[in-house]
Amino acid sequence: MSAYKFIDHKFDVVVVGAGGSGLRAALGAAQAGLKTACITKVFPTRSHTVAAQGGISASLGNMGQDDWRWHMFDTVKGSDWLGDQDAIEYLTRNAPAAVYELEHWGVPFSRTADGKIYQRAFGGMTKNYGEGPIQRTCAAADRTGHAMLHTMYGQSLAHDTEFFIEYFALDLIMDDGVCRGVTAWKLDDGTLHRFQAQMVILATGGYGRAYFSATSAHTCTGDGNAMALRAGLPLQDMEFVQFHPTGIYGAGCLITEGARGEGGYLTNSEGERFMERYAPSVKDLAPRDMVSRAMTIEIREGRGVGPNKDHIFLHLDHLDPKILHERLPGISETAKVFAGVDVTKAPIPVLPTVHYNMGGIPTNYHGEVVTKLGDNPDQVIPGLMAVGEAACVSVHGANRLGSNSLIDLVVFGRAAALRCAEILKPGAKQPELKDVQTDGHLARFDRFRNASGATSTAELRLEMQKAMQEDAAVFRTGESLDSGVARLAEVWRKKADIKVSDRGLVWNTDLMETLEFDNLIGQAVVTVNGAVNRTESRGAHAREDFADRNDAEWMKHTLAWLDVETGKVKIDYRPVHSYTMSDDIAYIPPKQRVY
Ligand code: FUM
Repeated sequence: MSAYKFIDHKFDVVVVGAGGSGLRAALGAAQAGLKTACITKVFPTRSHTVAAQGGISASLGNMGQDDWRWHMFDTVKGSDWLGDQDAIEYLTRNAPAAVYELEHWGVPFSRTADGKIYQRAFGGMTKNYGEGPIQRTCAAADRTGHAMLHTMYGQSLAHDTEFFIEYFALDLIMDDGVCRGVTAWKLDDGTLHRFQAQMVILATGGYGRAYFSATSAHTCTGDGNAMALRAGLPLQDMEFVQFHPTGIYGAGCLITEGARGEGGYLTNSEGERFMERYAPSVKDLAPRDMVSRAMTIEIREGRGVGPNKDHIFLHLDHLDPKILHERLPGISETAKVFAGVDVTKAPIPVLPTVHYNMGGIPTNYHGEVVTKLGDNPDQVIPGLMAVGEAACVSVHGANRLGSNSLIDLVVFGRAAALRCAEILKPGAKQPELKDVQTDGHLARFDRFRNASGATSTAELRLEMQKAMQEDAAVFRTGESLDSGVARLAEVWRKKADIKVSDRGLVWNTDLMETLEFDNLIGQAVVTVNGAVNRTESRGAHAREDFADRNDAEWMKHTLAWLDVETGKVKIDYRPVHSYTMSDDIAYIPPKQRVY
């Protein structure tokens, strides 16, 4: 591969991705005196965290009594007991301090009358171990992620993080099971770069764009997950894909769950507030998997709204326009632009829409990537961490509660930085890199750059997205998933015939989209294979042919490896951590999820 030359960089820590978790990790590593780089394919404040709306959960107790133990209980129950309880304890115990840190950095949170951080109700968040809804989600109107991302980018600039902006990460530099760095392509001048580091932290987000309709940005292609697969590492629990109940019908844009937190409600064609039948105690504030299933059932049984009876109404038109203006200005505008609806006068047409990936790169609660090696299910991969949606810690298990994502980003971004400070020595000597470690990266890059088949990337991507949308939906069956496996195998086969028209290296979006598609298809294949394999229903994985949760056989994490030559998937398992982090809090045993 002598046609390509790398420009070399050496750091203690390289973070890939500049969303909430990447910025928090980079900031913390730099604060610890480690020479830190953050490489990102988009400008930091365009990372997908910017789109997060409703808020960040933490038991501050500003709107009435709260307790991190209640938050922990809700998160375990919300996860349908697939979450690791040591990690969930770490998350919920550390959440309040993480929010105060954001406040002190300057996040412009909405305020209560007495000046405290305003908190709203969100799905599955309850008081006193399930008694009824609680207001736990700290909000900056309905632009919380935007406020956080801009504040954290500002803070990162105040420290010594070096940003490499519009660099597209290609692959992990692996050396006999140890990660030594990452390669990247600089989009605006076409140069190729080798970033050597003692620690690479993948903060590359989810892969929502494997689906046709998603609230995720088009940049959400799970690049880090795909790099892990190509490095021979497994992904965990990929069959668990979250559908957000309220994506705008047709457009897919997010309407925050905070809308229901402020008093909004869903109705069917009979004008019925149907959630009262499905979740009598919390109603419209049930967890997302339950609300999405309820909406799907209403539509299937002929009670959908609209000329084709294929969606549901979200009502905010009964709320005080002043509240809408103050607390939900963003979605009021989105509804106007994308659905033509004035929310003060009419309901918003909504439909469950792909929103979040519970699965990802398996890690412990320090952010260290783990795999199963022999009898050890928690073998750490030296030199590699993952945080945020790219990671599967696993605090969300089979179903994430709304607003537990933003808190996951900052709590585990910080945890990863703390671990780096503990185990790395600033400026420690690093081994020489060898060409053989990156020849495969260049071969893949060159193969796609010169691909001269007959099928465009856009055609293949659409075929993949349609297969995922139709066959790995809110409800799944063995039949639909087998169909998904076969359709994706066909897309995989057609990859050999892919066509890239632009042979250049500078701003070659054709090539970049092709590399992103290649990242997506691997994750899509792993997702449907994991889903067909898991013969039970748990959280967001609802099998009509296996309608019950089966703890005896399936209280375990799926690990899936991809053979990147053949597209074949190998599956194994890791146990769920049925223990907590500290002695003063007991393990929460499984129960049926009733709300
Ligand atoms: O509905 C929302 O505002 C989304 C929040 C989340 O996914 O945590």
